[in-house]
Amino acid sequence: MTQLVKSNAELRSAMTGLANNICLVPTMGALHEGHAALIKVAKEKVGNNGCVVVSDFVNPKQFGKNEDFEKYPRDLEKDLKVAHAAGAHILWAPSAQDVYPGQWPLAQAEDERFEILEGASRPGHFAAVVEVVTRLFDIVQPKFAVFGEKDFQQLVFIKDLAQKRSPVVEILSVATVREKDGLAMSSRNIYLSSDQRNVAHLIPEALRNATLSASKGASQVEVKNEVKEYLKKSDLIELDYIEIVNNELHELKNNELGRILIAAKLGNTRLIDNMPIMFKANL
Ligand code: PAJ
Repeated sequence: MTQLVKSNAELRSAMTGLANNICLVPTMGALHEGHAALIKVAKEKVGNNGCVVVSDFVNPKQFGKNEDFEKYPRDLEKDLKVAHAAGAHILWAPSAQDVYPGQWPLAQAEDERFEILEGASRPGHFAAVVEVVTRLFDIVQPKFAVFGEKDFQQLVFIKDLAQKRSPVVEILSVATVREKDGLAMSSRNIYLSSDQRNVAHLIPEALRNATLSASKGASQVEVKNEVKEYLKKSDLIELDYIEIVNNELHELKNNELGRILIAAKLGNTRLIDNMPIMFKANL
């Protein structure tokens, strides 16, 4: 049975004796099959003698003023069920006081890539994500941690953070888990009206077409234009950005594996997605 703990003291006592083999799965709760896939990978990594800690904390600092912090879905009972079914040992639901005690904050992380892609419309978001994950790592002291490719830009910053720590935290990444129609699972999908939900599959479809076109020799400009055209199939989808980068979020060269990333709004709901992509060398 997954143990539900709240305070840091409770967490510490639940982890007693397991310090050498802890895998952390940071989440903001509202757990779905995407999170479950991360927990399963964590379980496999630590084996029978280890401990999978799933943190469940809606971090206020990473939400912008006009974002959905207040209405972000919270359901600890359901989270406990999902965490248990996926094999987590501990579900840790700290308070803001547990995560940010007394003399917090530390110096804020800085990286010019915090301002691009998601960061362009979410100022301060990635500095806050790096801050909270630093704090979660400090408290849990995991040997491993698991993150999803769904949040590709976040994953890049977390890998950098993990490398800089001593001891290094080994980061495992998990491919995006999707609904039957291809829509990336997200806690925010519940905000979609049925009309919006019915056209949301166009987003992953556009990305899949893009990867195919790239493999057939289309250029980056052509591929981006194709995506823009494809999304015109529904006027419920408003494209925010479509960008192509390498795995360090810099310009993608030919014959290099990179990512195509998208953000689009359906009404007030902002969805993100990404897929691996590679362009051929010009012959
Ligand atoms: P949250 O959105 O709850 O996501 C927690 C983890 O689950 C992230 O690593 C995310 O990439 C992964 N995830 C979400 N949907 C997924 C899907 N469909 N397939 C695979 N993985 C998926 O990301 C956050 O929370 C926060 O920023 C956090 C890192 C917890 C810091 O507050």
